[in-house]
Amino acid sequence: MSGGTIIRNASQLVVICSKKETYKIGKDMDKIEIVEKGSVVVDSTGIIVDIGMEPEFSKKYAHHKFDVDIDASGKAVVPGFIDAHTHPVWSGDRVHEFAMKLAGATYMDIHKMGGGIGFTVEHTRKSSEEELQKLLVSRLDRMVKYGTTTVEAKSGYGLETETEMKMLKVLHDTSKIHPIEIVSTYLGGHSVPKGSTAQLAAEDIVNLQIPALLALKKEGKISPKNIDVFYEKGVFEREDTAKILKAGKDAGLCLNFHGDELNPMGSGKFGAELEATAISHLEKVDDEGIACMAKKPIVAVLLPTTAYILRLEPPPARKLINGNVPVALGSDFNPNAHCMSMPQVMNLACIMMKMTMNESLIAATLNSAASLEISATHGSIEVGKVGDFVIVGNAKWEHLIYEMVDPPILRSRGVACLPRRAGHRLGRQLPATHPSRGEAARRNCAGGER
Ligand code: NIG
Ligand code: FE
Repeated sequence: MSGGTIIRNASQLVVICSKKETYKIGKDMDKIEIVEKGSVVVDSTGIIVDIGMEPEFSKKYAHHKFDVDIDASGKAVVPGFIDAHTHPVWSGDRVHEFAMKLAGATYMDIHKMGGGIGFTVEHTRKSSEEELQKLLVSRLDRMVKYGTTTVEAKSGYGLETETEMKMLKVLHDTSKIHPIEIVSTYLGGHSVPKGSTAQLAAEDIVNLQIPALLALKKEGKISPKNIDVFYEKGVFEREDTAKILKAGKDAGLCLNFHGDELNPMGSGKFGAELEATAISHLEKVDDEGIACMAKKPIVAVLLPTTAYILRLEPPPARKLINGNVPVALGSDFNPNAHCMSMPQVMNLACIMMKMTMNESLIAATLNSAASLEISATHGSIEVGKVGDFVIVGNAKWEHLIYEMVDPPILRSRGVACLPRRAGHRLGRQLPATHPSRGEAARRNCAGGER
């Protein structure tokens, strides 16, 4: 026998779970499963086929010649990170706003002055697909270096049909050439376009943008899985948000929206009524919202970089975890919060939101996968799941969080993401027929393409 990949004898093979759990809540979020002296085999299509302990495991494979054979002695191995919330397609950085924020301007002060999202929209509208793709690829490359293997990626800097579809197309095309796995989200309701109103913008989304999205999706040119709205006072409020999200649901998209970030909007209850999959931010979530989210459950995607950069009170992670809401983490990479590193996000989650390191790792892997409805195939090291790993340059996985801004990730792409990625790296064409990787991630929420 030959082919595939083996990672041998990791000091800690951090599998996360072993019973195909699709998310973890409450006290279980603080429990991770670790195989010491662990080894894992991935087949040539990128799927984990065997997990075991040394020295027995290597004896079993003594006559197998692997394409990629990695000795992980003295190193820990964790699942590739799943960044549950990013805005990575845009041009025109906002470095000038950083000084304004340091001088005391709030997010909404800048937004109302036409800066913030409005500034990025102006630039992104003018950029070609090629320019946007180049920027996106360089950002995804940096994310991979920090161990991200799957990323949720939003549109939202067009606010009209042409640019929104352009952004989704860039994401779709890039997912075919980049080793990172992209789950894309349509965010036409990210802000009210200059000169319009929330009501008119919602009508434009429902009557023009979503029909255009469905047509392009049918043609195989874009692949959005989720719909998002910036549900916020002075942006899209209840009625318009509900209108957009309901139209998105009818279009077969999963509801995954920004809520309770700057003002309490009752997002938990609202999300439960609309049957949302996930809600991001939640700095201002209330007790009723927490109870509603736990019931369904709705995944809470927490973004500590936002609170850090805007000097806000961080979201109540402890209350959410104690209230049995599955908590996930995202970098919220965007021109406001310029962070691409999930280890940094986990560190901030521990320090600012009082999460444990185990909780942070589960939030950045299994529960992030749950927020994208891909935890049947992603988010833990289990037989049948995709073989995405991060190899840590230390025997204890916690060094990823402890070493702050420069985590000891062995920075080869082929090490951070194996082995489908290895196919790209080595210029080999891996079988295009395997259904369980990009396809699983992109599969329509309502089941089946529309
Ligand atoms: O999640 N709050 C809205 N959206 C983003 C920020 C986007 C931007 O400022 O460009 C967020 O923080
Ligand atoms: Fe965001």
